[in-house]
Parts: sequence; structure tokens; C-alpha cells
Amino acid sequence: MKEIKNNIYYCGLNDCDRKIFDELIPLEHGTSYNSYLVKGCAKIAVIDTMYPPMTSQYLQNLDADGVTKVDYIIANHGEQDHSGSISALLEKYPDAVVLTNSKVASNIKSMLHVPENKIREVVDGEEISLGDKTLKFIFAPGVHWPDTMFTYIKEDNVIFTCDFLGAHYTFENLFAVESEELEKSAKRYYAEIMMPFRIMCKKYTAMIKGMNVDMIMPSHGPIHNKPEYILNLYEKWTSDKPENLVVMPYVSMYNSTKEMIDYLSEKLEQKGIKTFKFDIVKDDLGDLAMALVDSATIVLGTSMVLANAHPAAVNIAYLASVLRPKAKFGALIGSYGWGGNLFGLIGELLKPLNLDVIEPLTVKGKPSAVEFDRLDDIAVSIFEKHKSSGLL
Ligand code: FEO
Repeated sequence: MKEIKNNIYYCGLNDCDRKIFDELIPLEHGTSYNSYLVKGCAKIAVIDTMYPPMTSQYLQNLDADGVTKVDYIIANHGEQDHSGSISALLEKYPDAVVLTNSKVASNIKSMLHVPENKIREVVDGEEISLGDKTLKFIFAPGVHWPDTMFTYIKEDNVIFTCDFLGAHYTFENLFAVESEELEKSAKRYYAEIMMPFRIMCKKYTAMIKGMNVDMIMPSHGPIHNKPEYILNLYEKWTSDKPENLVVMPYVSMYNSTKEMIDYLSEKLEQKGIKTFKFDIVKDDLGDLAMALVDSATIVLGTSMVLANAHPAAVNIAYLASVLRPKAKFGALIGSYGWGGNLFGLIGELLKPLNLDVIEPLTVKGKPSAVEFDRLDDIAVSIFEKHKSSGLL
């Protein structure tokens, strides 16, 4: 157990072998499940616990570190990767009480069967003394569950933000070292976990910035002892203004759709617009999610399977609709064989994004000269939309 600051210790674990999260997000650097032990002169608290498959290692480590008493288990969030070991911890430390808000309480009672008589609910802004340290609970619903709260230690000026401001990243030293890899991991994490709640993320980023904390201790990834690093990144990612970027996910069975995507990408680049082409079948979904954080326009390309869009493209349309990127414009292009409705389902799925959609281009088989002209028109439309939005 490493000391972070003034009797605040790290007792989390790295999960270097984990390759995917939520059975959705490929992980490039595994992840960590961060748990913290705070020793006050009168009481001891654990802030967030452990992912269930690693409970046994977690408890062994607490034993090895001589932790014989825990008074409070702070549950900042009810999801199992942080609350999944609460019951085991309560068995090990029978005098401990779980301190949490009513939403987490309800979740851990029903999902994890934590006994009701072991939970004490706190209210927003409530403070609990550990003797020489005061824990203050700050409710932060929406980043990323309705139950999320932060815990702030007043005397040390540090905040525990649970999933918010985290990264799927493993580490040996406790503190974040600025690097391209860490930034990518934090962005990938933001894109897939936090972006649907961009407005709330923006609000809490500003709130924490205003608090001028000395450290941010998230529940995944390294601790930020230079908080402005992650806060500045979140300011950029959550801003309302997208970048001059077109993200172009596509699936192409006979290369016709790919040919159109390649052509359109080239035309856009010639006009000074960055593009990010993404092969839905072969490429890493995390890269697409990251591009969606910044892009102003989404161009979705698809082949037809039976009488509708390719299922892989349908999946991406659905994913984009739930990740809720800040993109403002859209276009649909694709190729079919014998007939059907290429964009009906995709169009419905993308509706929640309220994109300003350029008239779709549907091609039978391979694109002809007329259809390449249409792609030129689409490139001009996107250029004009970016220009009128001040992106160029
Ligand atoms: Fe890392 Fe929402 O759990």
C-alpha cells in the first residue's frame, strides 16, 4: 500500500490482462480499479472497493498491509467494478458501515445484496469527520450514473471523483505522467463512458477547476497531482464547438462504398477538411469513439445486406446515437445490389443526434461518373457547412 499524501493510501489493483471493458471497449493498456484508504486520527475509511474477480487479492493485500480496522466504506458509485467487494469487506471488517447516497444505497442493496442495516445514507454536502480529516460528499449525478458522487477531503484539498476524469490505464507509480498514450486512454475512456453526458461533464469540470484541488483521485487510471492536465483535456473535449473534422465509418462488401468514401475523403482533404476513415469491420472501435469526440460531421457509408443497411453499419449508427457526440452535420452514402431501403433504419437510429443531414447518395453497384459528381457536391456542401460554422 503506497502513501499518496498525509495518511491517504492507494490500495487498488492493476488489471493488466483485461482486454475489453463492458464487452464493448477494447483496452490498449488494461485498467486499474482504484481503492483508497484514508486514516484519520479517530476513524479509518476506504473509498471505493474492488472489481469482484479481484476481491481475494484485494483483501490479501489489506491483510499484508496490516489493515485491521475499517470504520467507513465510502461508495461513490454503485457499479460493480467499484462496489462489487463491499460485502466481502463488510465480512472482513464487521464494524464497518457503508456511507453513500440513497441512489447508490438502493443499487447496492438490490444488485449486490449489501445488507440494509450496514448502510448509512448521506445527503449532498454532508461532512463526516475521521478526527483530523473531514470527508465531504458532493453529489454528481450523471457522470456517469445517476448515483455518482464525489468525496472531498477538506484538510488535504483532494477529491475522489470515481469514474469521472479516469482512464483505463495501468500504472506502477501513482501519479499521472503526461504522455500521448495516457491522453489517448483518457480520451477513449471519455468517449465511451462520459461523452453521452457531455453537458454534465462540462459542469463538473468547471466545478472542480473552481475548487483548485491539489489532487484528483479517480477510480480508474493514475492519480492527477497536476489536476489542470486532465481538467484542460476535459474542457477541450466537452466544449460545444467541434473541430474541422469529418469522421467516415464505412462497411463495404464489394469495394463500391469504400471507393466512394475514399473519393469523398480526398475531396474534403483538398478543401482543407481533416477526415478520419474507419473500416467498421476491421478497425478498433475505440479509435472511432475518439474521433467522434471532436468531429463536426459524420459520413456513414454502407453496403446493403438483404433489403437493409449492413448490420455492422446499423450497429455504428446505434452506437453513435447513444454516445451522443457533438457533431452537427451528417451524410449517408452507400451501394446496393437488387434493391431495398438502404438508409431507412440508419436514418431512424441517427435521429436523436439532430444532425443537419445532406441528401443521401445511394448507388446501384459501382459508382459512375454521375455519382462521383454527386460526391463532389457533397464535399462542397460539407465545406460550406464547416465554413459557415467557423470551423475553416
Ligand atoms: Fe468504473 Fe461506472 O464504473
